[in-house]
Amino acid sequence: MTTTAITHISSLVTNDPALGDGSPLGLVENAAVVIEDDRVAWVGPTAAVPAADTVHDAEGRALIPGFVDSHSHLVFAGDRTAEFNARMSGRGYTAGGIRTTVAATRSASDAELEANLVRHLREALRQGTTTFETKSGYGLTVADEARALRIAAAHTEEVTYLGAHIVPPDHADDPAAYVDLVTGEMLRACAPYARWVDVFCEKGAFDGDQARAVLTAGKAMGLIPRIHANQLSFGPGVQLGVELGAASADHCTHLTDADVDALANSETVATLLPGAEFSTRAQWPDARRLLDAGATVALSTDCNPGSSYTSSMPFCIALAVRDMRMTPDEALWSATAGGARALRRTDIGTVTPGARADLALLDAPSHVHLAYRPGVPLVSAVWHKGRRVV
Ligand code: NIG
Ligand code: FE
Repeated sequence: MTTTAITHISSLVTNDPALGDGSPLGLVENAAVVIEDDRVAWVGPTAAVPAADTVHDAEGRALIPGFVDSHSHLVFAGDRTAEFNARMSGRGYTAGGIRTTVAATRSASDAELEANLVRHLREALRQGTTTFETKSGYGLTVADEARALRIAAAHTEEVTYLGAHIVPPDHADDPAAYVDLVTGEMLRACAPYARWVDVFCEKGAFDGDQARAVLTAGKAMGLIPRIHANQLSFGPGVQLGVELGAASADHCTHLTDADVDALANSETVATLLPGAEFSTRAQWPDARRLLDAGATVALSTDCNPGSSYTSSMPFCIALAVRDMRMTPDEALWSATAGGARALRRTDIGTVTPGARADLALLDAPSHVHLAYRPGVPLVSAVWHKGRRVV
């Protein structure tokens, strides 16, 4: 057994209301944390910290749970600089650009795809992300989807089968046959590597009936649904996700009152992805409306080469606070505990005895600086499963 004590933490976010000040963030001032192997063993005042093998003096910095990025698309090759450039000159975003990445991904080797994934994971880790979900969706053949998930599964337990990202060009004249493939042979090849099944429910991608078929087939194979819903337009995605017990409905940019009610009265988390609205110059999701209605909100990056090429959870927090009317406390909770809820995990997203020791130390006196000082690399140390990794 090895123990590490982190002492003189100015402000500790535990996300455990039973600890600290009783707020949802469970803030503890002048705090210390003791890690035992891969778990948090003790939380309390620095004055009372038990002895440990190693002591890390935080010297008045803030400590937060490692970020839980519950939505990314990191198994891909190539990039879409030209498409971004055109968008910033006034062209709109359509899901059609996904085809560019599908072509690049299909022609990449396994080693290239894995190296690209690892490069982005390291980038995210340096910014405090200690858990990430990632998806297939740029292969769209049985073999290419299965290899994407196999590569992802070597790096995270949160793997999502997104064979239903778009109908690929090779099936353009027979979308029904593609849905049959996604719900049949492709699903059987992919399910062993995945925990989740996802579908892009949107005009130009999959309609409500097709999305229902995909999620229902995934469920029958033991996968848990999540859904890309209501990103580019109003549609059936959110309510379908709630009806099928999806862990999360992601994007939620165009919501009716009935969509908001459905989310507020369900266990389905509304995962907001402000990097996508930033990079597509779209309207912001109305986080305030969801929170005021009582929905659970998570914040994630959606990191992908098309609609949101950022791996930075601090950047997403800053956008959520400035442009989506979340408070800094709400945004921090959503980027940690909210992400854990969206992944149905109870062992991450909190700093409480028994939780996995995933921690990010900020070069700042409080978590509020993540939004107050946007664009500044504030993450100065990271522990993952109890081990110092940054
Ligand atoms: O979540 N909406 C669908 N999929 C991605 C975009 C993928 C892409 O443009 O390559 C998203 O934004
Ligand atoms: Fe996405």
